[in-house]
Amino acid sequence: MGSEAETVCVTGASGFIGSWLIMRLLEQGYKVRATVRDPDNIKKVKHLLDLPKSKTHLTLWKADLSIEGSFDEAIQGCSGVFHVATPMDFESKDPENEVIKPTINGVLDIMKACAKAKTVRRIVFTSSAGTVDVEEHKKPVYDESCWCDLEFVRSIKMTGWMYFVSKTMAEQAAWKFAKENKIDLVTIIPTLVVGPFIMPSMPPSLITALSLITGNEGHYSILKQGHYVHLDDLCQAHIFLYENPKAEGRYICSSHDADIFELAKLVSKMYPEYNIPTKFKDIDEEKLSPVVFSSKKLVDLGFQYKYSLEDMFAGAVETCRAKGLLPPPPTLPTPPPQVPPHNQAP
Ligand SMILES: NC(=O)c1ccc[n+]([C@@H]2O[C@H](COP(=O)([O-])OP(=O)(O)OC[C@H]3O[C@@H](n4cnc5c(N)ncnc54)[C@H](OP(=O)(O)O)[C@@H]3O)[C@@H](O)[C@H]2O)c1
Repeated sequence: MGSEAETVCVTGASGFIGSWLIMRLLEQGYKVRATVRDPDNIKKVKHLLDLPKSKTHLTLWKADLSIEGSFDEAIQGCSGVFHVATPMDFESKDPENEVIKPTINGVLDIMKACAKAKTVRRIVFTSSAGTVDVEEHKKPVYDESCWCDLEFVRSIKMTGWMYFVSKTMAEQAAWKFAKENKIDLVTIIPTLVVGPFIMPSMPPSLITALSLITGNEGHYSILKQGHYVHLDDLCQAHIFLYENPKAEGRYICSSHDADIFELAKLVSKMYPEYNIPTKFKDIDEEKLSPVVFSSKKLVDLGFQYKYSLEDMFAGAVETCRAKGLLPPPPTLPTPPPQVPPHNQAP
């Protein structure tokens, strides 16, 4: 457990994962330096300032992955860094300069800041399943030894290709820098993160996860052979890996595998009021072979997952409904009013 005095830095603090991680770190007694690109944008930071203990244990710091040296001040004096931030602009007109370069240079810049600070004992870097399984032919099982096929990604340029390239190259550059400079780095590799959340807008991963409800067909290919982790399990795993002296290397963090047909059945059972599809163009249920994302390394270290797939979707849907981010369910036709029989009081 973190001692009252321990100060850690969290990058990407306003986002889906960053904000929930900060909530858990504050609860567990840490002092948190949260980096955001614009601390004056109250819409993007209010959910952080409203957290319990924020007045005494949370400070906001301005930093941008595209600006060299901008994390130095926030990291100076910290004992740990959770590097969560990443550019997510899949529509970028200049992906090399707007997504790939800032992701790689950003992690290196943060590691240089850690080396300069001399107070940081471990960096936990949030990587992505996209660094592991993006390749032409899927394997039956993925573990931490697997890497995305960058040549394939660059030749196909599928939706989000620049994200897969940026995360893979950033994680590889981080490992090289850590070895050369003897920095204690642990990477955590989440699959699709789903659950309740505190950020005010629609989290990028829920656009995909809830696409069966919203009918956003462009995202069905990601759900075809899907892998999932609950946001709270993921954030607790970040803290577990930061605190565990035996943690080393990469860790897949993924608790459930489900293909799109299994997910459609589950979601339509949970929310019969939505019109969840049961058939998908170009996806043949008979031909889908199971693909597993193995979290054995994390579980063998002692981490326990707490949440089911139902918990993930219930949390996500309820939060989206409460924040007005999901359209209300289509109303069922109302039955005609009952006419009381003659001479009977209504
Ligand atoms: N959600 C998932 O399913 C999932 C799965 C696998 C891996 N991950 C990884 O988890 C991390 C967080 O993802 P998320 O789902 O929480 O996404 P998110 O809600 O979009 O958060 C990303 C944060 O990064 C910050 N950011 C973007 N560009 C930046 C830049 N140039 N400089 C500094 N900060 C920048 C943004 O903060 P500001 O705009 O406020 O500065 C944003 O809050 C990412 O590293 C992602 O690769 C997520």
